[in-house]
Amino acid sequence: MILVTGATGSIGRHLVRMLAEADAPFRALVRDAAKGEALGCDYVVGDLDEPGTVAAALEGADRLLLNSGGALPVAGRQPMVRQQTAAVDAARAAGVSYVVKVSAWRPSPDAKLSVRAHWEIEQHLKASGLRWSTLQPTGYMQNFFTGEGGFTHGHTLAGPYGTGRVAYIDAYDVAACATVLLTGPPPRADDTHTYALTGPEALTHAEIADKLRVPFHDVPPQEAAEGLRAQGLPTWFVDDLLWLYADMASGTMSHVTSSVRELTGRAPRTFDTFLASNGR
Ligand SMILES: NC(=O)c1ccc[n+]([C@@H]2O[C@H](COP(=O)([O-])OP(=O)(O)OC[C@H]3O[C@@H](n4cnc5c(N)ncnc54)[C@H](OP(=O)(O)O)[C@@H]3O)[C@@H](O)[C@H]2O)c1
Repeated sequence: MILVTGATGSIGRHLVRMLAEADAPFRALVRDAAKGEALGCDYVVGDLDEPGTVAAALEGADRLLLNSGGALPVAGRQPMVRQQTAAVDAARAAGVSYVVKVSAWRPSPDAKLSVRAHWEIEQHLKASGLRWSTLQPTGYMQNFFTGEGGFTHGHTLAGPYGTGRVAYIDAYDVAACATVLLTGPPPRADDTHTYALTGPEALTHAEIADKLRVPFHDVPPQEAAEGLRAQGLPTWFVDDLLWLYADMASGTMSHVTSSVRELTGRAPRTFDTFLASNGR
């Protein structure tokens, strides 16, 4: 039995369908019963912020898909660290044998925001004694629809992106990789189990704007910072966001990997296929 967290999110919605198609036994942990009903699969209501509910949801589970996001930092701390490390502890206590964690591209102690948070969680998972795999995706193509990170303003793709290329991935492909791992044998201790996941091509944001058929506005970092501060964001948070943009603009996410093909046996979706599969 697999417990799927983040089931209502960009990856999770694909994942529950793929696991059902694979006839894999699973249940979803959701915060809202109505969203669980809409998923159309076995679900249990719980919250990663309430470890008791996670322990109850893990009853009978031997695998865990660990994925969550969306909570804003409080006093500089990402709630995700507290939530996901507690879930790892609950998994160990429940006798779970294998955890697949959705992480981020190149998490490190020098990173900021959720990228650093994922590094902290990975450290905890690796020290837990549980068998684990981590999926380290670049940015999701879905961000251009959800507005994650302020990608679109008034039908313009705007941000301090410069000409750095990013090998964005469709969350569908992250879900496909997770399905392969969750339904296959757990890795041996000496296996490679960190997967850097990308799409098949690295695009500039001007090229992406073209595909979205919207104008592209490359905002100077200083102007972007002023705009974010004007929205009421605290200075430290604006600085961290600017770090993320600068990292992207420098091309650190331009590397294309073969991990999706190696795991799933097929190429990852292109940006054009992503748009077509979303009726664009
Ligand atoms: N977006 C990107 O480009 C990107 C790139 C690399 C890595 N990531 C990582 O991918 C993960 C998912 O990010 P996303 O932006 O795509 O979000 P998402 O998966 O679309 O949504 C977040 C999911 O987490 C669930 N969740 C949030 N807080 C929870 C809690 N306290 N208890 C239980 N469930 C909770 C949400 O449930 P509800 O429906 O109840 O809100 C939702 O299912 C994050 O860890 C993020 O750092 C994102």
